[in-house]
Amino acid sequence: MNMTTAANPTYAAHGARIPALGVGTAPMTGGLSSDTVVAALRAGYRHIDTAWKYGTERAVGEAIRASGVPRAEIFHTTKVSHEYLRADDFAKSVDESLAALKVDYVDLLMVHWPNPEIPLSETMPALAKAKREGLARHIGAANFNIALLDQAIKFCPEPLVCLQAEYHPYLDQTKLLDAVRRRGMAFVAYCPLGRGRLFSDPVLTEIAQARGKSIAQVALRWLLQQNVAAIPRSSNPTRIADNFKVFDFTLSDAEMARISALKRPDGRIANPVERVSGGWD
Ligand SMILES: NC(=O)c1ccc[n+]([C@@H]2O[C@H](COP(=O)([O-])OP(=O)(O)OC[C@H]3O[C@@H](n4cnc5c(N)ncnc54)[C@H](OP(=O)(O)O)[C@@H]3O)[C@@H](O)[C@H]2O)c1
Repeated sequence: MNMTTAANPTYAAHGARIPALGVGTAPMTGGLSSDTVVAALRAGYRHIDTAWKYGTERAVGEAIRASGVPRAEIFHTTKVSHEYLRADDFAKSVDESLAALKVDYVDLLMVHWPNPEIPLSETMPALAKAKREGLARHIGAANFNIALLDQAIKFCPEPLVCLQAEYHPYLDQTKLLDAVRRRGMAFVAYCPLGRGRLFSDPVLTEIAQARGKSIAQVALRWLLQQNVAAIPRSSNPTRIADNFKVFDFTLSDAEMARISALKRPDGRIANPVERVSGGWD
């Protein structure tokens, strides 16, 4: 993959090809307008991240159909929420998601959060079953720490192609990223813009001005140059299109290092600790 010339490169993992840049669809104030997803597809995005929990699957499905982009070109992700990780509930949740999206399959189906009260020995075979039944082309996990990821792999009869987790310049994910790579999986970064917290950062401002780019573009580029996929969200079609313009410049090693040095002990935004037993790295 050549990150500087490819329009929207993909990361290969256990047979999947995951587009490096996707669009997030978690609910925003006022919900999700299908126009924003249409705008994303028109701007060139081919990876759409949604989840049963977001309540946005119906709007996402409508947007895909309205966009005119062939279904086969889109890498479409959804997730099963932590309340539904028992085998029967899991299958029902997948059926509900596919019905809301009005599709026969998703490209990637993930466990949204681990649930300490439901053993992975029950959940992971249910996830693999959805793949074997053709309801998902690939499967993965979100918000698992390294120990839980290893348990998940042990109990899953099909390969997990990715881990989705929070990652942006204020949060050090070096250990988790290394673990994911060693397991042949792709890393998909959520909250890649720090949910807006990065936008007044002086170092990012300086690099963005020097490059003639926005802070969002610099933050996304920093992830892509680590071979991390990113799924930024915006309610604004212009910003969605701008966030896609990250394939025409390269950050230097010195710029990459300056951005990595922005990590903070309190950089995490999502709070999985209350849901995940055993800590978070
Ligand atoms: N697996 C999980 O547990 C999990 C958890 C959280 C998120 N996610 C996924 O990751 C996606 C992204 O994460 P996120 O939505 O939390 O945060 P994010 O993408 O880091 O940040 C979104 C915020 O950045 C703003 N923004 C976007 N582009 C901008 C630009 N170019 N200039 C200025 N502001 C900009 C948006 O405001 P405007 O709308 O005003 O542009 C919005 O407030 C979610 O939508 C969801 O799909 C997954």
